Amino acid sequence: MINSRAIFTICLMLFLNIETSEEVGITIIESAVAKGAVCLDGSPPAYQLDKGFGDGVNNWLVHIQGGGWCHSIEDCVYRKTMDNGLGSSKLMQELYFSGILSNRSDQNPYFYNWNRVYMRYCDGSSFTGDVDEVDTANNLYFRGARVFTVIVEELMSIGMNNAQNALLSGCSAGGLAAILNCDKFRGFFPSSTRVKCVPDAGYFGHVKDLSGEYRFEKYYDEVVTLHGSAKNLPSGCTSSMKPSLCFYPQYAVPYIQTPIFVVNSAYDTWQVFYILASYEADPNGEFTKCKNDLKECTATQLKRLQGAISVVANSSTKGMFINTCYTHCETDQTIWYEKPTSKLKDKTMADGVGYWFYDKEKFQEIDTEQVDPHYC
Ligand SMILES: *[C@@H]1O[C@H](CO)[C@@H](O)[C@H](O)[C@H]1NC(C)=O
Ligand SMILES: *[C@@H]1O[C@H](CO)[C@@H](O)[C@H](O)[C@H]1NC(C)=O
Repeated sequence: MINSRAIFTICLMLFLNIETSEEVGITIIESAVAKGAVCLDGSPPAYQLDKGFGDGVNNWLVHIQGGGWCHSIEDCVYRKTMDNGLGSSKLMQELYFSGILSNRSDQNPYFYNWNRVYMRYCDGSSFTGDVDEVDTANNLYFRGARVFTVIVEELMSIGMNNAQNALLSGCSAGGLAAILNCDKFRGFFPSSTRVKCVPDAGYFGHVKDLSGEYRFEKYYDEVVTLHGSAKNLPSGCTSSMKPSLCFYPQYAVPYIQTPIFVVNSAYDTWQVFYILASYEADPNGEFTKCKNDLKECTATQLKRLQGAISVVANSSTKGMFINTCYTHCETDQTIWYEKPTSKLKDKTMADGVGYWFYDKEKFQEIDTEQVDPHYC
């Protein structure tokens, strides 16, 4: 599934991130085990914190790691062994802090001196799962929602309770988690704290794929059922439609009260590869070359890819930065603070989010000039 160009891009990104980012140790919350707030394999949850400084000491950014979901027993059993710790804190390695997590003012002008937390993802449900019963045969725990609570409680106990400003962000499945847990996060703070959420590449669309079907929907049905997520999705939404549809931001966001700023590419590569032009949706592989390398796309194919834009562009949020970079997750890349091709209204993403966070400006920008997807 991963082609050489993608591998090259990933290597390049890792290289860039290592160049410009810092190492921060992992904190394991051992006491969470007694509360049943555990990773898929029963191990305790974890986070990485880099303390704030200067006038940022009372501000907190909590950024949620991404990494897809697990939708079946077999899939979740496999996830427990994934070597980046997506199902177990026993296997976690430190993640680098870059982009929105960077401590450099030139790269992260608004949040560089905040307390910056990387919330580690180890439940496979975007922190929505909560099943009491343990699958003892497979040693599986579906407790993502409890993990979220326990990490936020721990942060509150070490100073986040004094926050003047708090921002919940995340990338990919972590971006979705930042949406679905936005009001819950808000609820931990007094009304005097400014609290907002910035999901990056988490606006997965309920859209017809190339074959005209809503094929991906079944996958979310399985995730939501397996993890018992329904009770942790916005109740206004779950009472008006099939709960698993409320895993889609386009249906959930209208029921969320806390301000959300959507960062997303209109041509998110993950959505192109796994939703719009998945193998099942394109059995003859007509889009294979195009999705692997935009230079191979015909004009008609580029038009067809635009099917990905509409849902995000229609998002009912007050703030958004929707560019047309052909990528997945932008707040942790150099796109966050530079790259002229990714600017909107002459602002970097870092500035757009910062202006909006501090109510300096409404920022609702969609790239309407570069209508075709491109590499940034
Ligand atoms: C950022 O973090 C790195 C690694 O911990 C450290 O060496 C550097 O001094 C920090 N920069 C600032 C401005 O705090
Ligand atoms: C976007 O919103 C417009 C106006 O409300 C509507 O006509 C259109 O169908 C929407 N598109 C999608 C994909 O939801």
